Amino acid sequence: MNIQAIKGLVQPDRVHRAVYTDPALFELEMDRVFGRAWLILGHESQVRSPGDFFTTRMGREPVIVTRHTDGSVRVLVNRCAHRGARVCEAAAGTTAEFVCAYHGWTYGTDGRLAGLPLPDGYTRPAGESIGGGLTRVPRVDAYRGFLFASLAEHGPTLAEFLGPLRASFDDFVERAPDGEVEVAGGVFKHAYQGNWKLVLENHNDTVHPTFVHASSIWAARQEPMAAPGAYSEIGVRQMLQNGAPWEVWENTGLWVAGYGHSWMADYHDDSRLVAALEHPAFAEYRAALERRLGREGAARVLGELRWNSIVYPNGSFMSQFRQLRIVHPIAADRTVVYAYSFRLKGAPERMFRDTVAFANVVNGTASPVPDRDGTLRGRTGTSEVHIRNQLAAWLEYMTAES
Ligand code: FES
Repeated sequence: MNIQAIKGLVQPDRVHRAVYTDPALFELEMDRVFGRAWLILGHESQVRSPGDFFTTRMGREPVIVTRHTDGSVRVLVNRCAHRGARVCEAAAGTTAEFVCAYHGWTYGTDGRLAGLPLPDGYTRPAGESIGGGLTRVPRVDAYRGFLFASLAEHGPTLAEFLGPLRASFDDFVERAPDGEVEVAGGVFKHAYQGNWKLVLENHNDTVHPTFVHASSIWAARQEPMAAPGAYSEIGVRQMLQNGAPWEVWENTGLWVAGYGHSWMADYHDDSRLVAALEHPAFAEYRAALERRLGREGAARVLGELRWNSIVYPNGSFMSQFRQLRIVHPIAADRTVVYAYSFRLKGAPERMFRDTVAFANVVNGTASPVPDRDGTLRGRTGTSEVHIRNQLAAWLEYMTAES
């Protein structure tokens, strides 16, 4: 499919269904979108010490994210240099080396070939060792502890790529009383039979809860209200919130920025979602936050009302519930989502339990107006401006001449 044909797929008032269904376009996306963009891979706490690793994907490439002995984070393509077998099958762990299960080629945590059986069986110039190794993903970087990598040798820096979305990561980390967050527990994976764009479009879609979640809203409304002061069950609170009247959704803030990113804000302040600001767990949390930031600083952090932030094209996170979701396209009609729960270091353990409970529970067109930092804001919170923004970024990736 040539660039002119692709340009015709996303028009101001409509999008061709092939964008969500065509296998040939999907293959092209793997090169032009997932092969170019910075992709969020996880968090540094998953590879805290040398030898720590976890496996994930970057588009169609399986990769190993590992901390090398020199302290740097390396992202290695999980494909043996010998005959292409997957070198590491484990989801996560700690190792001194990666050994291919097929014929025993062995690699260091920097991907270099460290040993192989029968090396004399390979002809090579005298004095030269056998080359090769695991392919290194060329660009790796981090922002506030969140790990990113790009399969492209060249492109915008991570800071340029994230732009004003960095404030969402700042909000996430600043909420920790100790100024640090960490992935806790494992990864929750779910697959769906549909295109990868759909889940990213859904996360900031504020019209659907009233309809899609109608039965759970109804069930939550049957629950007796928690006693005043109770730190009530998180799922019930969330489902009640999903049933908020249209005015709430229309007044929700929705911003979009370069590269397809977006975030929802002015939503779910703690007084609305947390039934009891005076509950001891919340009071303990606030006090811990004030010890680091002072009263005004803590109020500023808690007053930040960002909800879902979309890191296009492969991530979505929410700081208020400490959850990161990473989207892995498998085929035009198949997607797997990895969900990670985070602990705010220094916060009461009860808050992490809420994070886990929340993770278990959840899983109108309008024009934008210019806003600060070069962003655009949806005129209303139910705007589809974030979807249009993602498709604009898609078109940019897919039709760039080089
Ligand atoms: S394919 Fe890995 S050692 Fe042969």
